[in-house]
Amino acid sequence: MKNLLKMSDLSPAELTHILDVADQLKADCKAGRTAPLLAGKSVALLFSKASTRTRTSFEVGVYQMGGLGNYMNTAELQAGRGEPLRDTARVLGRYYDCAVWRTYRQRDLEELAELSGIPVINGLTDYAHPCQVLADLMTIRERRGTLAGLKLCFVGDGSNMANSLIVGGLLAGMQVSCVCPPGYRPAADVLMFAHKYGNAFHLTTDPAEGLRDADIVATAAWNTTAPGTAESEQRLRDFVGFQLTGRLLENAKPDALVLHCLPAHRGEEISTALFEQHADEIFDEAENRLHVQKAVLAVLLAVVTEDEKALTAANGIGKKIAQRVILELKDKLAREEALGGTSVKGGAPAMAAVPHSKKNEAQSALAVLGYGSAEIAAALKDIDMEALTLEDIIRQALKRMMK
Ligand code: CP
Repeated sequence: MKNLLKMSDLSPAELTHILDVADQLKADCKAGRTAPLLAGKSVALLFSKASTRTRTSFEVGVYQMGGLGNYMNTAELQAGRGEPLRDTARVLGRYYDCAVWRTYRQRDLEELAELSGIPVINGLTDYAHPCQVLADLMTIRERRGTLAGLKLCFVGDGSNMANSLIVGGLLAGMQVSCVCPPGYRPAADVLMFAHKYGNAFHLTTDPAEGLRDADIVATAAWNTTAPGTAESEQRLRDFVGFQLTGRLLENAKPDALVLHCLPAHRGEEISTALFEQHADEIFDEAENRLHVQKAVLAVLLAVVTEDEKALTAANGIGKKIAQRVILELKDKLAREEALGGTSVKGGAPAMAAVPHSKKNEAQSALAVLGYGSAEIAAALKDIDMEALTLEDIIRQALKRMMK
């Protein structure tokens, strides 16, 4: 992964890895531990549109990681007076280690990435909102313990949030349904991507049909133009019947989560009562923007820039994950031992004493992270099991799977 311009830049393994790193960084943050993973690094925070969550979560996140996050309203740069993007991009690439940009056209974001030569993160375009969707997936996994097999239903405009939720949900192994009024379908390339997932994806104009048995229901504002304009008035007419209400939610599972990326337009895409009923998960979702974006920065900078500091950061992250999965595995083995089961021979106390079992231990630990057996076997191939510690074996395998 060189950039995060859209959800399809991620493989399923990279998506899982970012969520795992985000969980770790959130736990560290709550425990008052912060690692200066971005020490000496500068991140350009470019905004061509208003933002509360994206701007402030990146500012706070970069600060917590020991880096410099430099907010710039692009209207106040020379770009706002006509300097071409291709020149701005080449200049910023010489000062910064990474850039986040909220803008309109996806093509402009791609041009920034191509010409700046530094990793670029999409802070929202008309086409995609990957940071938001990573936070959504993190929130769902936190509350449900898994993503695979759950049904996610998006109701609203088939624009950036729909595009990114469809791709992100399918990459994570979810069933995805998308409910949009006629004329507000998701992007054609997203529908082509979804088509490859067969019955796991469903597009409809019927809210009751799309919501049926949903585990998670998400929506987003669809009326963002100025009140009273012709477009705003047209949208108010086109979206009649698409407002998330308690009545509409009766089609979903009784314990369905409701997500909203915010800002919420109560009385338009969601009723006030339903919003307040689900405020806990909605504001967890907003909080998780901070943690997941820190994970994106850590992974992206560590993978893309190959200087020593970045690699140290990558190793630090990998080590933490390796330690966590070993602890999880030890817990699991201890529980199985207490129940008389022996799914991995030897049990937890034998881990250090029986070197030839390190491969098994590493396989089990990586499986805890959700990787498949073929992927794990390929990642462990030719690793020197005798010479390396279990932690280093897992770290090397994780790095290979991230490539
Ligand atoms: N959800 C979201 O991107 O919020 P902001 O527009 O406040 O950044």
